[in-house]
Amino acid sequence: MEQTKDHAGVSEAREPESDDLLVVDRIVERHRGEQGALIPVLQKAQQAFGYLSTEVIERIAARLEMPVSQVTGVVTFYSYFTTTPRGENTVRVCLGTACYVRSGKQVLEDLEKTLGVSVGETTADRCFSLEIGRCFGACGLAPVVMVNDDVHQRVKSTKLRELLEPYGCSNDVDGGPAAQSRGSTERNSTSGGSA
Ligand code: FES
Repeated sequence: MEQTKDHAGVSEAREPESDDLLVVDRIVERHRGEQGALIPVLQKAQQAFGYLSTEVIERIAARLEMPVSQVTGVVTFYSYFTTTPRGENTVRVCLGTACYVRSGKQVLEDLEKTLGVSVGETTADRCFSLEIGRCFGACGLAPVVMVNDDVHQRVKSTKLRELLEPYGCSNDVDGGPAAQSRGSTERNSTSGGSA
């Protein structure tokens, strides 16, 4: 199964289909007999599907002959793993010290309102996933938000819709950020803004 990519080269979350479970089987077989095989199997499964569905977790547990609860425990322990579909774009708000003291927390709260999701969640149209980060190396121009690989510096809460608008998804829905904001904006500017 090929992993689909959007225009920005970002992995697009896919609903695992029954046939896709064969992909899980192949991943498991590649790691069978290895000590600590569960983690690399989960990593590769998430890379293949964009997230770890209940169906995939149960299949991995069955193939590795371990309790589903054990696999689920590992998935929930590591923040890297996600059990919800990922959006086409990943928005990461820096909450490192420099960004935090320069309104990073407020930017995060306003992004949650703008997108209608909390940290770790994906918008209903699967356009955006919201995450937090701990320093993107641009502290001097805090607060910083990354969208995919784009670093936006000196982000202002009043400019969040303009910041998100260029990433409007093909399945844009009425009421989504791209639908609500059609104002002109540039990526990588400092007006909400980036490097
Ligand atoms: S603390 Fe946010 S970029 Fe360094």
